Amino acid sequence: MNEKVKLDQEYWEQRYRQNRTEWDVGEITPPIKSYIDQLTDKNLRILVPGGGNGYEAEYLFQKGFTNVYLLDFAEAPLQNFKNRVPAFPEEHLLHQDFFTLTPNQYDLVLEQTFFCALPRELRSAFARQVHDILTPNGKLVGLLFSEEFTNPGPPFGGTAMEYQAYFEPYFQFHVFEESQTSIKPRAARELFMILERRDKPQFIA
Ligand SMILES: C[S@@+](CC[C@H](N)C(=O)[O-])C[C@H]1O[C@@H](n2cnc3c(N)ncnc32)[C@H](O)[C@@H]1O
Repeated sequence: MNEKVKLDQEYWEQRYRQNRTEWDVGEITPPIKSYIDQLTDKNLRILVPGGGNGYEAEYLFQKGFTNVYLLDFAEAPLQNFKNRVPAFPEEHLLHQDFFTLTPNQYDLVLEQTFFCALPRELRSAFARQVHDILTPNGKLVGLLFSEEFTNPGPPFGGTAMEYQAYFEPYFQFHVFEESQTSIKPRAARELFMILERRDKPQFIA
């Protein structure tokens, strides 16, 4: 596939309907699980955008986090999630485009193969939108692929240096390094990040 294919809602719905979900690892990944395991505030407002089948949301919910939101513009994975986790509050399942969220809502945004699924031209807008929807001192935590792929995407890869250019204006970098606990097929191919929202974006001339 080339990047001219429209990566819209219909495209992703089809992928789920046809079971072409190669990105889906079927459970929460170890780096994100470890991060969640050291969180103590169960009232944090947490968003998992482009969350698909929602393993992170399920894990958080089972650990007693009360303000967890799973967002995807494809309906099929949200329906799968409902069937799997029927007690999860329905109003915390957000069937909408990530870019339509309004500002200042979440303390933590978890990234797991959403950024790499977006058209490259939306990368900077992604960084800005995460900044905007976070509360002061809110964090973006998760994984980014650290290599370019030879196959046409999605997923679309990239490099740490490229990503820094998108995120630096909006976030302070606390952790941005090769993930040590990635699942085997992604070992040495992912960055783990903990980025904290800047109060005011900083653009260097
Ligand atoms: C590669 S999948 C990853 C799903 C999940 N995070 C995982 O790791 O299994 C990308 C997901 O992002 C969703 N998506 C893509 N663009 C979106 C957008 N603009 N707003 C909301 N969801 C979007 C797709 O429907 C799809 O479920």
